[in-house]
Amino acid sequence: MAVVSAKEMLLKAYKEGYGVAQININNLEWIKAVLTTVEELKSPVILGVSEGAAKYMGGYKTVMAMVRSLDEFYNVSVPVAVHLDHGSYEGSYKALEAGFTSIMFDGSHYPFEENLAKTKEIVAACHAKGVSVEAEVGSIGGEEDGVIGMGELADPKECDIISATGVDMFAAGIGNIHGKYPANWQGLSFETLAEVKKVSHGVPLVLHGGTGIPAEMVQKAISMGVSKINVNTELQLVFAAATRKYIEEGKDLVGKGFDPRKLLAPGYEAMKDIIKEKIAVFGSANKA
Ligand code: 13P
Repeated sequence: MAVVSAKEMLLKAYKEGYGVAQININNLEWIKAVLTTVEELKSPVILGVSEGAAKYMGGYKTVMAMVRSLDEFYNVSVPVAVHLDHGSYEGSYKALEAGFTSIMFDGSHYPFEENLAKTKEIVAACHAKGVSVEAEVGSIGGEEDGVIGMGELADPKECDIISATGVDMFAAGIGNIHGKYPANWQGLSFETLAEVKKVSHGVPLVLHGGTGIPAEMVQKAISMGVSKINVNTELQLVFAAATRKYIEEGKDLVGKGFDPRKLLAPGYEAMKDIIKEKIAVFGSANKA
């Protein structure tokens, strides 16, 4: 299937009560791991690309060329969206121009009126090209690409206004953070989520910081209107752990064990296992 916008797959998920995974990608192995796994499980998926990851992979156009070619190579039949994650104002336009099919404009660090005005402008530019848009209200904590948010509970009044701008999905802080959760984490605020849902005009909600949130909490969030769950750090952790094990066991020193096709294989398989686990928790298998 051609690479598509995230709009339809999220509306279907919202209506039918399951979640679509946004798996953030970092290189060829990541893209292959996601595409082959979602095809096996017949699940829709969103490939998240941060500005830093896009730069690492050689720019937005390279990312799109890689995804489109691999999509064709593996005969992927399920819907796949390529989504800019936490896009800046300038980055959003660059990704749009390069053919991204979905854009998150993260204006959460601007004063609210400016976030609103810029979000409206980006919605108009993206929708003119059939590209879906995610907005963010209330910064989501943790560190991502050097950007540190303090973690907030979103203000429902702001959610009401932003979700009425025509965005196709929106992220609200509900106590979630990027990266590993601290031992004393209080959990998701379902109270805030319920408030946000009431004022979200039927727009599917997004849960950032999917790494390390207990499965039951994620499933409860899905039952309350979350249709997209972002996962990044968890794949990085399992990839690193599997690669470390391979090297610590000295396998790179045996025969041609140093060949990247062998060296990176355990990490690749570990990522596929995590993607399968997420799809099972989110309930998106056979929903393509
Ligand atoms: P994690 O890295 O915590 O999984 O969060 C991913 C994310 O929210 C990307 O926007």
